[in-house]
Amino acid sequence: MRIVSGIQPTGSLHLGNYLGAIRNWVKMQDEVAAGGGQSLYFLADLHAISQPHVPAELAANTREMVAALVACGIDPDRSVLFNQTQVPAHAELQWLLNGTARMGWLNRMTQWKDKAGKNREGASVALFTYPVLQAADVLLYQATHVPVGEDQKQHLELARDIAQKFNNDFASEAAPVFTLPDPIIPPEAARIMSLRDGNAKMSKSDPSDMSRVNLTDDADTIMQKVKKAKTDPEPLPSDKAGLDGRPEATNLVGIYAAMAGETVDGVLARFGGEGFGRFKPALGELLVESLAPINARFISLREDRAALDAILAKGSARARELAAPTLAATYDALGLVRG
Ligand code: TYM
Repeated sequence: MRIVSGIQPTGSLHLGNYLGAIRNWVKMQDEVAAGGGQSLYFLADLHAISQPHVPAELAANTREMVAALVACGIDPDRSVLFNQTQVPAHAELQWLLNGTARMGWLNRMTQWKDKAGKNREGASVALFTYPVLQAADVLLYQATHVPVGEDQKQHLELARDIAQKFNNDFASEAAPVFTLPDPIIPPEAARIMSLRDGNAKMSKSDPSDMSRVNLTDDADTIMQKVKKAKTDPEPLPSDKAGLDGRPEATNLVGIYAAMAGETVDGVLARFGGEGFGRFKPALGELLVESLAPINARFISLREDRAALDAILAKGSARARELAAPTLAATYDALGLVRG
């Protein structure tokens, strides 16, 4: 098994990232190490320049995100932890794959449509070709599995399409250049929604900080955000079917279940019939208790810039080694003379 996944170092790590992806990264890091496989996790800093950004903030956020991932349990001795920028093969492979990706495929990407909105002409080219870079990220390492939240599923399907077309066009069936990766999406936390709107994804780019629980929030802030979360006036139902048409209630119960490692029905068996006045403090306490150790580790790690840079330097050196054979095979398959 070869696990590869990435996160953009824009803003802080939030509960959606944690429950949708990072918790699985940590779990898979242990499973993969036990089976003799390899896990690679990276900061998608090259992806972050597809949207307007402040350079000094990107640099600071990149280091903060390393601290946050280590605080969550990513072990730089067992996983390869790095940033794209230090492994030029990502950008090189993207260019090589641009010859295979089709405009029509990229035009169908929902994230492109959402982020560009009505202003397609004014969006950056990087925003449009972003999924090709994402395909390069995973194909470069022959990833077999990619742990992500639901919102990245379409991008991974595109990576498979690119890999398949490239193999068909430029390689033999007996010796394909790329492995087709499978997404791993946690069913109970595939899509954590905003605390202010049960129909919008919890996101780093939401202007309202009250919409998300950041892993760096202190206990009081977490409690306050949960208590102020949007809800409806009804008490909680006693089974899952009763959550239909109640997006905010669905989200809060889902967060509780994912965090506690319980099923939604299990949570409702306990809280069914109760109002949010009782459920919200219980959810707040669960989050505070679960996130406190991560928060404490994050605070002690974030100040040591030299240590964070050293983690990235070491991980990037290893990633460059692991990337080299596939990059070389891609150049060769395309008839590009490397000398
Ligand atoms: P990013 O930085 O937006 O998010 C990182 C991971 O968190 C998951 N996630 C969520 N899961 C559940 N509920 C949510 N509300 C939620 N918000 C975010 C995302 O699905 C993701 O797994 N393009 C990617 C980064 C990337 C990447 C890659 C991922 C670049 N190259 C290669 C996998 C493989 C992104 O912007 O994720």
